[in-house]
Amino acid sequence: MRRAIYPGTFDPITNGHLDIIERSARLFDEVIIALLMNIEKSPMFSIQERVEMIQEVNRWSHVKVDTFQGLLVHYAASQKAQVIVRGIRAVSDYEYELQMALMNRRLEPQLETMFMMSAEEYSHLSSSLIKEVFLLGGSITGLVPDAVEQRMQSKVGKVKG
Ligand code: COA
Repeated sequence: MRRAIYPGTFDPITNGHLDIIERSARLFDEVIIALLMNIEKSPMFSIQERVEMIQEVNRWSHVKVDTFQGLLVHYAASQKAQVIVRGIRAVSDYEYELQMALMNRRLEPQLETMFMMSAEEYSHLSSSLIKEVFLLGGSITGLVPDAVEQRMQSKVGKVKG
């Protein structure tokens, strides 16, 4: 049983993330999308909303959604996962990802990090950029799933009253 973890903040999930999930789903028997309960970032969506959005767009029966806090390596061990999947978009991601991968390897030598190249059309995306463009009235169609765009619209609608 080859089980991989795809960790992140997913605030919200983008088509770039989905591209990596699709690639991972082809390679592993089970993929767990693991949302970090991150106290440092101030998210647009609650952890519950982010989980729901991922469940809405998840079309693979062997891809699960879960949340975690604490060290990723501890979570991976608790799930008996052998691999952490991370998407690499541009060269600028590399340094940060290398640091994390090497620290995780030091903490848990049996756990492997696998990097996947994002599809070219999503290589400029980040959740923050999408939120910024959306909040300033720009189009994000094609960058996030329709269900996510609708959620963003209703969230902003509520804020604006
Ligand atoms: N396409 C589009 N965008 C992508 C993407 C892809 N393929 N992959 C990542 N992104 C974006 C995300 O949307 C996010 O954007 P944002 O910063 O604007 O929100 C950004 O890249 C960073 O993304 P994310 O994947 O959420 O990672 P992260 O850097 O927030 O978190 C963890 C990384 C969760 C893996 C890491 O913090 C962790 O393991 N934490 C647990 C504690 C721990 O173990 N610490 C020690 C680590 S050595």
